[in-house]
Amino acid sequence: MLSLKIFLASCLCTVPVAVIHYCNFTGVHCPAIYYVDMDTNTIYMEHLKDSITVKDYIMERTADGVDRCMDTLQQLAIAIGQVVGMMHRNHIIHGDLTTSNLLLVGKPEDCHIAVIDFGLASIEETAEDKGVDLYVLERALLSTHPSTEPLFEAILHSYKETYMCSSGSSGRGNRGGTTADEVLKKFDQIRLRGRKRNMVG
Ligand SMILES: Nc1ncnc2c1ncn2[C@@H]1O[C@H](COP(=O)(O)OP(=O)(O)OP(=O)(O)O)[C@@H](O)[C@H]1O
Ligand SMILES: [Mg+2]
Repeated sequence: MLSLKIFLASCLCTVPVAVIHYCNFTGVHCPAIYYVDMDTNTIYMEHLKDSITVKDYIMERTADGVDRCMDTLQQLAIAIGQVVGMMHRNHIIHGDLTTSNLLLVGKPEDCHIAVIDFGLASIEETAEDKGVDLYVLERALLSTHPSTEPLFEAILHSYKETYMCSSGSSGRGNRGGTTADEVLKKFDQIRLRGRKRNMVG
C-alpha cells in the first residue's frame, strides 16, 4: 500500500513535468522547470514575469462591453486556437483549459501565450480526450466571460487551421491519430451531451 502511495505521488510530479518538457519541445511556451524535489513532490519552475492571465485580460478589455473590443480580442482568439491546436496535434491534453491557465507574457496585445497548470495533463491521441479539452475551454470562456461566443468560434477556426497545418492533406496530428474534423465532430457530440445533462438537471 505504501509503495502504491509513493508511486502515485511520484506520478503527480513526473507526469506534469514530462508534459511541460514535451510542450516546450513542440514549441508550446510553458514555464521552464528548474528542479523537481521528489521527496516533497515539489516542482520549482520559472516565474513568468510581466504576465497576466487571459482571464484578467479579457475582463479588463470587456469592462465596457464585449462589442467594443472584438477586434483586439479576435487576435487573442487566434493565438489561443494556435496554442491549443499545437498541443492537440502533438496529442498533449491539458485537462484544465481555463482562461486562468493561459498567461499573456509581455505586452498583452502581442498575444504571446504561455500555458501553465499541468496537474491534470496527459498524452492521448483520441478525439474524445481532445474534444473534452475543447469543451472545458468553451465552458470556462463562456461562463467567465459572457457574450464571448464569437471569440470561441474564432478559437475553433484557428485551432482547426493549426491542427491541420503541419499534418498534410490527411489532417491528422503530427504522429498520426485523429484528424481535426474527427476532433471537432466529437466536440459537437460532447457539447450535445453537456446540454442534455443540463436539461435533465
Ligand atoms: N509560472 C508562473 N508564472 C507566473 N504566474 C504564474 C505561474 N504559475 C502560476 N501563476 C499564477 O498563479 C495562478 C494560479 O496558478 P495555477 O493555475 O498553477 O494554480 P491553481 O491552484 O490551479 O489556480 P486556478 O484554480 O486559478 O487555476 C495563475 O492563474 C497565475 O496567475
Ligand atoms: Mg490553474
